Amino acid sequence: MNISQQIDAFKQHFGAAPTFVARAPGRVNLIGEHTDYNDGFVLPMAIDRDVTLVGTPRSDAQVRIHSLNFNQTTEFSLADIQKAGPEWSHYGRGVALALQKAGYHLTGFDAVMYGNVPIASGLSSSAATELATIMAFSASADENEKLKIENAEKNSAFSILNSKFSLVEAAKLAQQAENQFVGVNCGIMDQFISALGAVGHALMIDCRSLGYELVPMPQGATILVVDTTAPRTLAGSAYNQRRAECEAGAILFNKASLRDVTMTEFKALQPKLPTIVMHRCAHVIMENQRVLDAVAAMKVGDLEQLGILMSQSHESLRDLYEVSSKELDAVVDIARAEVGVYGARMTGAGFGGCAIVLVANEHAAAVAAKIADEYPHHTGRTPNIYPCVASAGAGFGKLSE
Ligand code: GLA
Repeated sequence: MNISQQIDAFKQHFGAAPTFVARAPGRVNLIGEHTDYNDGFVLPMAIDRDVTLVGTPRSDAQVRIHSLNFNQTTEFSLADIQKAGPEWSHYGRGVALALQKAGYHLTGFDAVMYGNVPIASGLSSSAATELATIMAFSASADENEKLKIENAEKNSAFSILNSKFSLVEAAKLAQQAENQFVGVNCGIMDQFISALGAVGHALMIDCRSLGYELVPMPQGATILVVDTTAPRTLAGSAYNQRRAECEAGAILFNKASLRDVTMTEFKALQPKLPTIVMHRCAHVIMENQRVLDAVAAMKVGDLEQLGILMSQSHESLRDLYEVSSKELDAVVDIARAEVGVYGARMTGAGFGGCAIVLVANEHAAAVAAKIADEYPHHTGRTPNIYPCVASAGAGFGKLSE
């Protein structure tokens, strides 16, 4: 599906040409897993797969979105937003409510939506849908001179306007929609990178201050995404359980969050901690340090060190945080045995979903072929494997005739 096909679909559906395009990407996380809700550090990058809406503002408060992925249309009024209709529509409804609660005056729109971020694979199709919809509201309100998005720091193909509404605020409101309306208790990472990603860069985010730094992707290596195609069982309840275990750990250390616990403090209290809580804390404390080390390695183009840190992160998520799966472990083990692979790890929440492999460019095709060949023997499943590149965060622009 390219943009002109999507525009044609809009014309067919709504009988006129759309006037704006709004989009937001999915993500992979290079390192820093299960640290965001502990006020810690993360290092994701936006990928070259996104959710796009083409649309036209309306003069009333109705929102009509047709999803090409689901071949379904949803319609709701901004004056009365309910958690109703198809599940994919809850992201749009949720961000509309969050924007309005924050005091923004929204305009309705008609849009056709399409996404090529794989759904429910751990690449943040939900965050991409939320941010793309916020961009569609921004585009609509912009045409009505009510709400504009400040987009100045980004390397984006979309038009840039001045306003008090920042991309950081967009990310926070999207997270609020996901937490309060959709009902998923995620941290800020996915929405933040979908909003603020940049071409050729990963983004180091301090999830406490929401300060961030663009980190150039080192030359010479490819990130392969390997979708295990295994269902993500228990993801929601186990995720919440991990959060609770971390909160329990922070209380035992008498700290606001695990972000504040040093290695020395951890070692002093370690023998007294319940084993599970001790393991969760150890992961978070060391993973935060690995993010800082990974940023340092990337800045000097040290792919070997970056790969080692990624592999250590995977081992910690597998053994201490216990959020990996046999499929994710199989991908990582197969990849790490191959020539040219610097490191590999699961990415995102875990319990299924995707792994990423950092591999020298010249070996990427062979490594992808090897995983495609070996993985089914270990798991009985066929993986989806593709390279991804660091891409621009959310944005919107006008469509001219
Ligand atoms: C999911 C959540 C994020 C983060 C990761 C784990 O992707 O949405 O907020 O917690 O899991 O790092």
